[in-house]
Amino acid sequence: MSLVFLKLGGSAITDKTRQATAKPDVIRDAARAIFSAREHFAGEMKNPELKILLGHGSGSFGHFTAKKFGYGEKENWRAYAETGASAQRLNRLVTDIFLEENVPVVSIQPSASARTRDGELYAFDSTNIQTALGHELVPLIYGDVAFDDTRGMAIASTDALFAYLAPILKPSRIIYTTAVNGIYTADPNKNPDAQLIREITPQSFEQIRAHVGEAHGVDVTGGMLDKLERSVRLVETFPRLDIFVIAAQGAQITSALASFPNGTHIHS
Ligand code: IPE
Repeated sequence: MSLVFLKLGGSAITDKTRQATAKPDVIRDAARAIFSAREHFAGEMKNPELKILLGHGSGSFGHFTAKKFGYGEKENWRAYAETGASAQRLNRLVTDIFLEENVPVVSIQPSASARTRDGELYAFDSTNIQTALGHELVPLIYGDVAFDDTRGMAIASTDALFAYLAPILKPSRIIYTTAVNGIYTADPNKNPDAQLIREITPQSFEQIRAHVGEAHGVDVTGGMLDKLERSVRLVETFPRLDIFVIAAQGAQITSALASFPNGTHIHS
């Protein structure tokens, strides 16, 4: 069995500048690529058991609502409720588009079982994900709110959920799709000298960390650096794991599911 975790980044599937605005075409393009990959593998008998755990970010849904309601403030439970609902609204859209494209996704609400302590995810029920995978369904999770033992509330990002599930489900690869086609030395939208980093290993990471940390804007920094740190830790622990950061485009997703895509390859 070959299991792949695939994330549709919030910055790719929503318009980050407009509140609660999805990009249905980007979502549909991804859904079609995933549909074909599952068909193709089955048809050619290359890998009839390609299994996919799908995840997506929150972009201008959860992030906007969190800001608007003051998410994280002590006892601000209204913010907890509103942010969770907003994340779910995007999930409803993603679910429906994938079903229209004949990908049998099953949405699983992370906050129903996720728990964090000091912001770190320490519990999340994986049994229904495993059962869904066993039935050739495509379980679908997303960045969500979480009750936190010390802070009251925190965010369970898709990246954190993937990192938590990796030791349990042992994927052979993790694919992150983003608004740009990989990890750059600086924010490519703002800096014309930004260069795509093709490969990152635990050895090269220390040097790269300084670049990525310095160069990216406030919003991107947490996201990219956090993703990178988690990814490097994962490939250190699981040397056979391949992690790719690619553009959220059908053609790129197709090649990432089958071989080696363009973008950034993180490996041991
Ligand atoms: C964020 O999740 C979740 C909320 C703000 C509720 P992610 O970290 O997975 O989402 P993106 O990719 O940054 O949008």
